[in-house]
Amino acid sequence: MPRVLVSDFIPGDLLDPLAGMAEIEMWDQGGRAPRAWLLKHLPGCEGWLSMLSDDIDAELLDAAQGLRVISQMSVGVDNIDVSACREHGVTVGHTPDVLTEATADTAFALMAAAVRRIPEGAQIVKSGQWGPWDPWHFLSGDLHGATIGIVGMGRIGQAIARRARGFDMEVVYTARSRKEIADATEIDLHGLLRMSDIVVISVGLDGETRGMIGREELKLMKETAFLVNVARGPIVDTDALVAALAAGVIGGAALDVTDPEPLPADHPLLEFHNCLVVPHIGSATIGARRAMATLAVANLTAYLRQQPMPAWLPGSAQQPQGDYPGTGPPPLAG
Ligand code: NAP
Ligand code: GLV
Repeated sequence: MPRVLVSDFIPGDLLDPLAGMAEIEMWDQGGRAPRAWLLKHLPGCEGWLSMLSDDIDAELLDAAQGLRVISQMSVGVDNIDVSACREHGVTVGHTPDVLTEATADTAFALMAAAVRRIPEGAQIVKSGQWGPWDPWHFLSGDLHGATIGIVGMGRIGQAIARRARGFDMEVVYTARSRKEIADATEIDLHGLLRMSDIVVISVGLDGETRGMIGREELKLMKETAFLVNVARGPIVDTDALVAALAAGVIGGAALDVTDPEPLPADHPLLEFHNCLVVPHIGSATIGARRAMATLAVANLTAYLRQQPMPAWLPGSAQQPQGDYPGTGPPPLAG
């Protein structure tokens, strides 16, 4: 039987489809699998069910003799050197779509909490400073009717736009290619930054988007505007964001992802009352995480059966071309 490495705990019932067809070795001791463990255990494995916290680079691929397929349990693949995978003949799968709605919910939860100052209010109650009702106390901007600027109008960006319409927001967006999206106006990044009350980052991280929001971009934002990041930390220049918050250049920030990650407890970002940070929980619902694990397992089993994978990553080595076997999620377009 082929050997498969799983670099974090996956519940047994979700691994069942693999159980009869592969010998599974799993890192189940919590935290990210140590690199030394990966280097020791990957050689001889045909498949790897990987996590976004694994640094998958040429060194690891050189060591992973016999590796044919990586199936990552996330949609973002910025931790994977995809061209090195192609050169090593390694096919890659990931988990788009199944986490889109959960992540868009998180974006909305973050923007509502930050704009309406919910964590600050909760803190005042907990610290015993809740005084009599005051008509001019704890005021904020409005969420409804705000202009939301979505940077990256892909699956998650479009799910955020659908929610924004329910809040009577005006939606503007920037994307790489033109989209046909009703009730949303395409605009260049600088225009979006100037006119938005809330800027949401939902673009993938790559060479082009790393540092996309820096000092100059933050300066273009309204001084009342909020920056929300549910994509990847390095898309925003952290030092520039700290400086902008310190100088009151923007109204505040709400971050599901940061650079670095995890963010140390003494990081300057955590000192601002108007900066809300949560620990990369965008897709962390039971339903989404189970669906992600199911799809990651389906990608692996499809490959091992030499069938097309439900969610193959273009740019990696070719996937098998056999007929889809009709089990697991149906093949995705593209
Ligand atoms: P997606 O469908 O591929 O959407 C990405 C969008 O970004 C696409 O519309 C793409 O444009 C656009 N884009 C790419 N480069 C751009 C650029 N330079 N300027 C402007 N737009 C650009 O991906 P998705 O499923 O929505 O996921 C997006 C990202 O969210 C993932 O890559 C991941 O990093 C992150 N994520 C985070 C969490 C979390 O837990 N916080 C959960 C899920 C995903 P085109 O359509 O023209 O290519
Ligand atoms: C989560 O961050 C993902 O990319 O799926």
